[in-house]
Amino acid sequence: MKIFIDSADVTEIRDAVSLGVVDGVTTNPSLVAKTGRPLAAVIREICEIVDGPISAEVIATDAQGMIREARELAAIHPNVVIKVPLIAEGLRAIKSLISEGIRANATLCFSAPQALLAAKAGARYISPFLGRIDDVGGDGLELISQIVTIYRNYEYSTEVLAASIRHPVHLVRCAELGADVCTIPYKVILQLLSHPLTDVGLSKFLKDAKKTP
Ligand code: E4P
Repeated sequence: MKIFIDSADVTEIRDAVSLGVVDGVTTNPSLVAKTGRPLAAVIREICEIVDGPISAEVIATDAQGMIREARELAAIHPNVVIKVPLIAEGLRAIKSLISEGIRANATLCFSAPQALLAAKAGARYISPFLGRIDDVGGDGLELISQIVTIYRNYEYSTEVLAASIRHPVHLVRCAELGADVCTIPYKVILQLLSHPLTDVGLSKFLKDAKKTP
């Protein structure tokens, strides 16, 4: 399974990359706004840090506007993938971007039919937001399971990029279900590593090592 970091903060992206487990990055307009920097500058810097797919999101809501923004973002670096919202205009934009060789990540996916249409339009990634589904009393993992099954049934090449991951169990279940990628906030990447028995065991080994003549 590939692990992407869900962040626009270059300091935490650098820290996560130094762990050697980061395959790519996803951003969204809210994450970029938190940095107080222009989108293009943030994406350019991330591309220098990570050699993998970097998702940058358009903010236009009409296909022509999305395509214009996508071209500008894609020109920053060949690793840039364009995040397009899963609305009718988004599907139109995805189809056209593919003909230009620009990869798309269909974002804000909350249902299996949306995911099926994104695959048919040729999206490179589908981003189901499982944490946000859980937040409103739904079952985000069930959606991951449905999408993985549907894509396997018809051999769609669109990769399932599980997003809105809130805790380690989300990642483990996504891995069991066969999601291709999980995009995870830095805080959760660190939680994946943490185990109290590791800390207790390490502290005892270090204490005992001092007794070695
Ligand atoms: C996905 O690419 C989004 O950036 C992200 O995972 C949304 O997560 P949130 O629901 O924690 O904002």
